[in-house]
Amino acid sequence: MLKNDLLLRAARGEKVERTPVWLMRQAGRILPEYREVRAKMGGFKELVENPEFACEVTIQPVDHLGVDAAIIFSDILVIPEAMGLPYQMVEKRGPWFENTIQSAADIDRMIVAEADDVRYTIDAIAMTKKELDGRVPLIGFAGAPWTIFSYMIEGSGSKTFSNAKKFLYTEPILAHKLLEKITLSTINYLKGQVAAGADLVQVFDSWAGILSPEQYREFALPYIARICDAIDEVPITVFAKGAFFIRKELGGLNCQTIGLDWNMDAKESRELIGSSKTLQGNLDPCVLYANDEVIVAKTKEMLQAFGPNRHIANLGHGVYPDIDPRKVKLFVDTVKEFRF
Ligand code: CP3
Repeated sequence: MLKNDLLLRAARGEKVERTPVWLMRQAGRILPEYREVRAKMGGFKELVENPEFACEVTIQPVDHLGVDAAIIFSDILVIPEAMGLPYQMVEKRGPWFENTIQSAADIDRMIVAEADDVRYTIDAIAMTKKELDGRVPLIGFAGAPWTIFSYMIEGSGSKTFSNAKKFLYTEPILAHKLLEKITLSTINYLKGQVAAGADLVQVFDSWAGILSPEQYREFALPYIARICDAIDEVPITVFAKGAFFIRKELGGLNCQTIGLDWNMDAKESRELIGSSKTLQGNLDPCVLYANDEVIVAKTKEMLQAFGPNRHIANLGHGVYPDIDPRKVKLFVDTVKEFRF
């Protein structure tokens, strides 16, 4: 039994005493406690692949920031690796893949991953669930097929992801073939996370905004829809960063919550998405660089804009690593103290 189930009730559209709050990328990065554990372990991947440490880092923001949910410490890139493309996390630079997808043969070599191929994260979820002892819900997650695809083609981060987009225009049939395999892998993985104890799952389409609306409708949305249809055990959140142009269609997905980035207006999003979804977001992460008065005022403005029903407070994207944890806590406390 959960002692604090505000997040789940808000996701399902049930009554809540106050708006729940958590932050994307809250696990790690900003907390000195994370850096300490990370220094002991050597590297990011070692941490992700060690369930005890992943569990510890997942619970840190619950203890130190008082958020209403934990999100499992892992990465979206575990799926390309489980399918056959290992990644490295290069210090200060980000992800890097030695091999990338270039041809039909490369795609044929990729396997459809099972949850067991990401055993360490599944084990970390089971361990964290036990360790949390019902204090707050545990969020599982995966990358959306298009975002995973873009890393598999590009091999690293990119400003434009132009190689990945080029592949959609020049090899659409192959693109669909790879997206299909990623989708099946993601469904297996998310189902494994739910079986291990995840109370809600979020799909991160971080590079959604890079596609044209037509490309998004052809290469991204249908695969997200399949994931939503497959996960019916727990609420699901879809966060398509930058895809302001697809909000109306997101309203038709078989999911409970839509994540909004800071460019998406609350009222306009509600009109486009409709009343049957919970909205999550969407304070500009850079507000947390401002002074305390600005942080409190902007947070309250955001809460007012979304109103008391069907809202989960969050930032419009992940919290930046150099933001003062005290300012993050001020954001969390402001939401928790606010009443309509
Ligand atoms: O939300 C959480 O705190 C849970 C853990 C989590 C991580 N990555 C840990 C991480 C989650 C949900 C992710 C998702 C993720 N990973 C996304 C989608 C969300 C988003 O921000 O758009 C993406 C695109 C990635 C890929 C990725 N992982 C990049 C580009 C980088 C390097 C740059 C960066 O953001 O730090 C990572 C590394 C990463 N993933 C770190 C953490 C804590 C930093 C590693 C470190 O130096 O300790």
